[in-house]
Amino acid sequence: MKKQIAIITGASSGLGSDYARELNHYIEVDEIWIIARREDLLLKLKSEIESQKCKIKILPLNLTDRTSFTVIKDLLDAQDFEVKILINNAGLGKFANIEEISLLDHQQMIDLNITALVSLTKICLPKMSAPGYIIQVSSIASLIPFPRFATYSATKTFVKYWSQALANEIKFGGSNKQISVLAVCPGPVATEFFEIASTYQKRVHKNFASPKDVVRKSYDDLLKNKNISIYGLPMNLFAIIYKWLPSAMINWILRLTNRT
Ligand SMILES: NC(=O)c1ccc[n+]([C@@H]2O[C@H](COP(=O)([O-])OP(=O)(O)OC[C@H]3O[C@@H](n4cnc5c(N)ncnc54)[C@H](OP(=O)(O)O)[C@@H]3O)[C@@H](O)[C@H]2O)c1
Repeated sequence: MKKQIAIITGASSGLGSDYARELNHYIEVDEIWIIARREDLLLKLKSEIESQKCKIKILPLNLTDRTSFTVIKDLLDAQDFEVKILINNAGLGKFANIEEISLLDHQQMIDLNITALVSLTKICLPKMSAPGYIIQVSSIASLIPFPRFATYSATKTFVKYWSQALANEIKFGGSNKQISVLAVCPGPVATEFFEIASTYQKRVHKNFASPKDVVRKSYDDLLKNKNISIYGLPMNLFAIIYKWLPSAMINWILRLTNRT
């Protein structure tokens, strides 16, 4: 029998570590491959969660470097693995005006949030069979053209639409693969994200969601075969309001709330 594996990107902190910690409560696999750049944190997570039933393989890779995809593809091809679940969680945001953000930072947001996600999905799809699962971590910022979060929110809009298109292809496009695809759109979560995103908004607020709660809700929604997961009443209300407001009014609100 093929070894069933899970692949989780951005597993060295925040949502990614909790996706790894919680996985076996929802979906059983033989091995979890955890990917991020900080090897020490991956090793710490491995020693925390590895068990006889579920081995942990650490892959300290930089996903903005395209050679990393070749490493992962070669590992998958070397043995007859079945990818049971892929979680494209690694992501990066920078919060400032477009002109203030360096070109390299814009490029890295696009490389990590879009290119890595598309590449890993493309590499893993042929290795998946029914029932298979894909979680693509987007953001509530995907719903609106956020000033000072322009590149980030646009990359997350890509993630949301691309995931929904993939889900539709699988459901209605004649594919005989039963693969559930879920776009997760969290509001603010208490992780390292804001330390990296902003030079002036580093603190995690007490009303930010806990990563564990967001992760549990996304696994629940995945197993219910939903295509989108939004944690918490405030974020669900926000999503509904923005969906039905005319775009002229959205732009007026954005201008009002983003006056300097
Ligand atoms: N926190 C929020 O408020 C929030 C809200 C909505 C959506 N999200 C999304 O949630 C996802 C997880 O973020 P988080 O909140 O858990 O933030 P986080 O704690 O900063 O986690 C980001 C993860 O991505 C990894 N990563 C960053 N650059 C990488 C690279 N070049 N190559 C490989 N891995 C890389 C980081 O590991 P290394 O540094 O070790 O590489 C880390 O494990 C992201 O996609 C983010 O956009 C977060």
